[in-house]
This record gives sequence, structure tokens and C-alpha cells, in this order.
Amino acid sequence: MNIWDELRAHRRDVTELTIADLFDKQPARGQEYAVENDGLILDYSKNLVTDRTLRLLVQLAAERNLDAGIEAMFAGAHINTTENRPVLHTALRTPAGTVVNVNGHDVVPGVHRVLARMIDFATQVRTGRWLGATGKKISTVVNIGIGGSDLGPAMACAALRDCAAGGPDTRFVSNVDGHDLVAALRDLDPAGTLFVISSKTFTTVETLSNARAARQWLVDSLGASTAVAKHFVAVSTNAREVDAFGIDPNNMFEFWDWVGGRYSLQSAIGLSLMLAIGPENFRDFLAGAHSMDEHFRRAPLHQNIPVLLGLIGVWYRNFWEAQTYAILPYDQRLSRLPAYLQQLDMESNGKTAGRDGGRCPVATAPVVWGEPGTNGQHAFFQLLHQGSVFVPCDFLGVLQPDHDLPEHHDLLMANLFAQTEALAFGQPEATPPAAAGMHRAFPGNRPSNTILVPRLSPYSLGQLIAMYEHKVFTQGWIWGVNSFDQWGVELGKALATRIFNELASDSAPTHDSSTNALITRYRQFRKVAGRPTEFRR
Ligand code: F6P
Repeated sequence: MNIWDELRAHRRDVTELTIADLFDKQPARGQEYAVENDGLILDYSKNLVTDRTLRLLVQLAAERNLDAGIEAMFAGAHINTTENRPVLHTALRTPAGTVVNVNGHDVVPGVHRVLARMIDFATQVRTGRWLGATGKKISTVVNIGIGGSDLGPAMACAALRDCAAGGPDTRFVSNVDGHDLVAALRDLDPAGTLFVISSKTFTTVETLSNARAARQWLVDSLGASTAVAKHFVAVSTNAREVDAFGIDPNNMFEFWDWVGGRYSLQSAIGLSLMLAIGPENFRDFLAGAHSMDEHFRRAPLHQNIPVLLGLIGVWYRNFWEAQTYAILPYDQRLSRLPAYLQQLDMESNGKTAGRDGGRCPVATAPVVWGEPGTNGQHAFFQLLHQGSVFVPCDFLGVLQPDHDLPEHHDLLMANLFAQTEALAFGQPEATPPAAAGMHRAFPGNRPSNTILVPRLSPYSLGQLIAMYEHKVFTQGWIWGVNSFDQWGVELGKALATRIFNELASDSAPTHDSSTNALITRYRQFRKVAGRPTEFRR
């Protein structure tokens, strides 16, 4: 029997299994099914897994040559096959002096050269040595980017706001919906504003439209296009397009095509974050990720945190048919983490094309979603506890808060622990007896991981990000998909370009009857109401 079939058979054997039984049979499970690495703790005991499940899953990873896959990634092999590129976000956080060759060329010196330029620039801005065109200190940084050029820095700036004293405020504009840019600029003083235009390709329509509008806003106010030199910097792999846009190449921070957009937060795409938290904190952020890289690369599979998370996810996705998976950070500062992980997971592994060119025969990425606790408890936890959907969850907690309201923190952590207990063990229908009834029953047996870090610091955030990156890698490798391309976004982009041109023309649109009617309705509305700026009057 192959290992996949063995896992299927094992799944049938454990149909009647409950998490409560598992704890009865293995009283020390809470200690035994936990791993700690460099202060980060994963408790995976409240899962529907036995020793045999874990053995089979590790065997699956071994048979799929996960070890070799990990090594291939770290060594710079072209594992992004459809784009024929290496995948080396790990090189962004590797210490100087390490050698990582891409086509015979060591990329690490280049990584540290750009890092040094970022540090120099961030220091100048933070200390007021870099001034705006009128001599004013930069007080606000507006990052304009989308997807991986927005979600990572936006998430991390929110997460690390307690480290941002002395730095400029940061704002993020991503959507081509003009309300986003207008709201971000409304109360800003152009003389104290720095725009960081972040785009790997520098061809993304949303980002370029917002960047052009921001440049106009600046020039309208400061009066000269030369002001752009003091108020616009770019982060990109595409020096030609940056130059064509009118940003001085000296004000461009480079990264490379071997860094995927959703894996780019620790490249120059992190510039807004570095401006906010300062270079030292940014270095800690890189060090935390590197620590997790080393763990992922060296720990045995059965004690390897990202591998365990990945394998348990495969177990639920492929053998329990879990369609969805929730990320529940019990820390308000991590409120953007679910959105960030949505892109990381769903854009990486939401695929049916296999690495071998054929169709992937098994289910791949689940729908990833979530909100911070305890807010989620008062919104959708009803479904987690009593709904008909099976939703494995990750609960994330921080041991030491950065505020001085200790009771708040105890309450928060009590809720986190209570939720994982309630989900796992539930409560039978007749308890308490007077309150019997289906609606009072908590079936339990709903699995979760708990991930704890000592403090939400740049270092631990780096660990968490690398942990999830490698979890996604593990799953993609096992499913046999290329986790590093994103061809699925192309069709919508091409159609939007075509429709954009059609909106301004009078000739009959040439789509299906629904799309044609929608286009026609919008055109008619615009004819009567005018263009958006006129709508407002
Ligand atoms: O359209 C998807 C995507 O290519 C993402 O993968 C990427 O993070 C985002 O767009 C932004 O791309 P860029 O950084 O090139 O502007």
C-alpha cells in the first residue's frame, strides 16, 4: 500500500477517535505533543492525531523527499519551475559571509549592500538629516504598493507599533479604489510626507495609478517636479520602469527576481517598516526569521515546527476534507496577520496544476481566514463551536504584553486557553442537567494548534513569518504544486485592461451578455452623471 492509501486507511480507523479519548489515553499529551524552539512554542496536542498518524505523516514527508526539497530551496535550485527561478527569501536574512550561489554568483553580498543602503537612508530620515524639499522633517511615510508589496509591511508596522517610537508615522495605500488614496492624503502635509513606491515589477496598474496621483498631489502643493527627488523613493526589481516613472535610480532600493512578492517583506519591501521601527529592530526581525530558517533546515521532521504544522494541515485538508482553516491571533497588534497569511498560503498553494506539468490529483490549499481574539469570539466562534463546518484553527498568543494593564492580559490569555479547551473537549448535551437540549451541546473534537511567543518583538515576528512561510512550503511540496508562481491572477488583469478601454469607448462590448450589460449600464450612468470627480458635486 502506498503511504497516501495508508493514511486513508488510518483515517477510517480513527473515525471514532475523540480528542478527549486521546488525552485520557495519554495524560501527558499536553507536554509530549509540544515543541519549543528559540522561545517559540507550538502545542499541537489538541489535534486529531495519534502517534501513528504522526509517524505516517512524517513518512509521507520523507517519501516525498521533503528534506531534499528544503535543501534545494536553501541552495538556490530553480524550484520555481514555471518561471525558472530560484526561491531565496531565506538569503535575505542570512548573515554576511554565508555563501548562497545563484548561477555561480554569491547573492549574499548584494543582500547586505542593499540592507546597508536601507539602514543609511532610514537613519537619515529618522534623524532629520534627510529633509523634504522645503527643509521640513519627514513625519509620515506613505507606502504605495499592493499584495506582497503592501500586506507584509502593513501587517508588520501594525504588529510592531510599540517599537516605533521616534520614527515617522506610516500609512499604506494599496487599492485602486481612489477612496483609499484620498483618505490617506486628506490630512497630510506634503512637505513632511515621503512616498515609498513598492512594486516588484513596477508595472502593477493599481500601484502606478496611485503613485502617479500621489506625485500630482505633491507637485500641486510644493510646486515643482524637482520636489519628487526628496519625497519619492522606490523599491523594485525593475530599475528601468522606476527611471521611466521619474524616480532617481539613486533613490531606488533593489531586490531580485528570486524573491517572490509574498515572500518579500524582509527584502527592501520592508523599507517602510525599517523607517518606522529603526534599523536595529529591523535587524532583529531578520535574525528571528533566520533562527526559524535554521530550525526548519536542521530539525528532524517529527520535531520541526513548520513541518508539523504543514503535515497536520495536510491531514485535515486531504483526509478530513477540511475546506477552511482559521488563524486567530490573540493580540490586537496582529490584526493584519490573517490577511497577510491569506496571500502567503492561498496565492502559493491555491493551485491545481502540478509541479510535474500535470493536474495535481489531491486537494490543495484551504481557504484561510481569521480575526483577532477575543473579537472573533463575539462574531463567528458560534460556527466554530456548533456549526456544521469543520474548521481547524491556529491560536496565537503572546506571553508578555507591552502595556501595563495586567488584568486585561490575563483575561485575554484566559480566553485563548478557554477557547482551545472548549473546542477540543466540548460539553455533553445534558450538562448541566437542568439545561439539557441540543442548543446547549458543545460537540467538541474540534482541533487547534496553539502557538506562543514570549513577547511580540521584531525577533518573534520574524520567527512567526518564517514559520508560516515554511509551513506553506512543506504543504506545497507534498501536494506537488509550485508554491512560487501565481498564474491564476493573470486572466482577471488582462480582462480588466480590455474592459477599462471599453468603458471609454462607444462600440458594443464583446463579452457574455451579463458583462456586456454591466458595462453598458456603467457607461450610461457615466454619461448622465459625468466622471467620478463630477459625481461628487
Ligand atoms: O497580482 C498578484 C501579484 O503579482 C502578487 O503576487 C504581488 O504580491 C502583487 O501582485 C504586487 O506585485 P508588484 O509588487 O509587482 O507590484
